Amino acid sequence: MGLLIKGGEVVTAEGRSRSEIYIEDETITAVGRELCVAPGTEEIDAAGKLVFPGFIDPHVHIHLPFMATFAKDTHATASKAALIGGTTTFIEMCCPSRNEDALEEYQLWKQKAEGASACDYAFHMAVSRYDARTEAQLREIVRDGTASFKIFLAYKNFFGVTDEELFRTLKLAAELGVITTAHCENAELVAQLQQLLLAEGKSGPEWHEPSRPEAVETEGTSRFATFLEQTGAVGYVVHLSCAPALRAAVSAKLRGVRLFVESVVPHFLLDKSYAEREGVEGMKHVMSPPLRDKRNHSDLWDALQAGLIDTVGTDHCPFDVEQKLLGEGDFTQIPNGIPGIEDRVNLMYTFGVKHGALDIHRFVDALSTRPAKIFGLFPRKGTIAPGSDADLVIYDPEYRGTISAATQHSANDYNGFEGFPIEGRPSVVLVRGKVQVRDGVFVGEPGRGRMLRREPQYRVRKGAQEELAHAG
Ligand code: URP
Ligand code: ZN
Ligand code: ZN
Repeated sequence: MGLLIKGGEVVTAEGRSRSEIYIEDETITAVGRELCVAPGTEEIDAAGKLVFPGFIDPHVHIHLPFMATFAKDTHATASKAALIGGTTTFIEMCCPSRNEDALEEYQLWKQKAEGASACDYAFHMAVSRYDARTEAQLREIVRDGTASFKIFLAYKNFFGVTDEELFRTLKLAAELGVITTAHCENAELVAQLQQLLLAEGKSGPEWHEPSRPEAVETEGTSRFATFLEQTGAVGYVVHLSCAPALRAAVSAKLRGVRLFVESVVPHFLLDKSYAEREGVEGMKHVMSPPLRDKRNHSDLWDALQAGLIDTVGTDHCPFDVEQKLLGEGDFTQIPNGIPGIEDRVNLMYTFGVKHGALDIHRFVDALSTRPAKIFGLFPRKGTIAPGSDADLVIYDPEYRGTISAATQHSANDYNGFEGFPIEGRPSVVLVRGKVQVRDGVFVGEPGRGRMLRREPQYRVRKGAQEELAHAG
């Protein structure tokens, strides 16, 4: 039997209209006015609501062994939190460390998600070491449908790669037509600055930012762009935090480097004073790149509105308070990261769309459509059109609430946005035609999520630059 969503205002990256949406099984089959539907069709009344395509978080960590501990969420908890917040697909970083076997870890990450996630998901495959064995394994992983790599220029001796490994990874990525995402900070500079600060007795969380200043991220961003330029690969900077790094990325875009830019919610809304708070309150806000001086915010919002920042993710990293305290007395041991998978859509809607910093179509574009296009999920995901998966968020713009760890669904005991007001939230969330969430409550099938297999889409065409097949 079909399902009709009526009475709402359909909002996509391109436009808005008072349309009905007809769904058969898992797929949207018609969008329009006064659709003819079979008698007995189930209906959802979306009057007074906005209807968005399901949101896509392009950067999350769920299973994450990192800094002597493991992030707290399971795929069951993180996916429910994602859905309650309107995210119907996430792309998880599969992150083996340097001394682990890439293929074995990829299989482990897949096993952890399979049958456990309530929403759809895909992976970025981190390349933490590059040798002949890794190369063969990466080819196999791409054949399996994981068509994006992840490189860390940070985290010396753990996830971080050498410049030689970066070069070889990008050459392979260019040959295979896959995109490479990159954490852009100079690992050696961070390691040296950390030691200098600790030697001076500067050990609290407030020293995390000075150990990885804006210049360290700017260098990483420029270097990544230069390596893309020299290898012909396509790249994506993750969690960009500051104006100088943004300028490096935009300068690369302007000279024709095929480079996309992601920033994450904390860098639009929080600043380094949060990490300067006393004790564990500061530790909760330690992430990399670090929270920056507030003066960066307006540049990031402007760049997001202009589309120079392509996407907004979360870098969801659920380490709880006990884990953060591993870094008491030594900021270099604080597990990096902050949770956010549940709050991204509501925060960006509230502080972006409602407060006038972000056009509603750019909001949909940055949080859904562009991640889908960049990572090979479009038009299956990221839009509302016949043939697309029926992943929909029926959004209540009149809802008022407050973010709090006490009411969140991620398996974490704090929320870095505690007390932030919210002006809107998902009322109904569908994944492939099935209602998974109603008004902040998960009501669906826990293991419904599927792994999304993606084709490489950045093949080099003869005599042409790499093409983004579905762009524009
Ligand atoms: O602080 C962060 N971002 N932690 C998670 C690992 C990463 O860098 O993505
Ligand atoms: Zn990172
Ligand atoms: Zn990350």
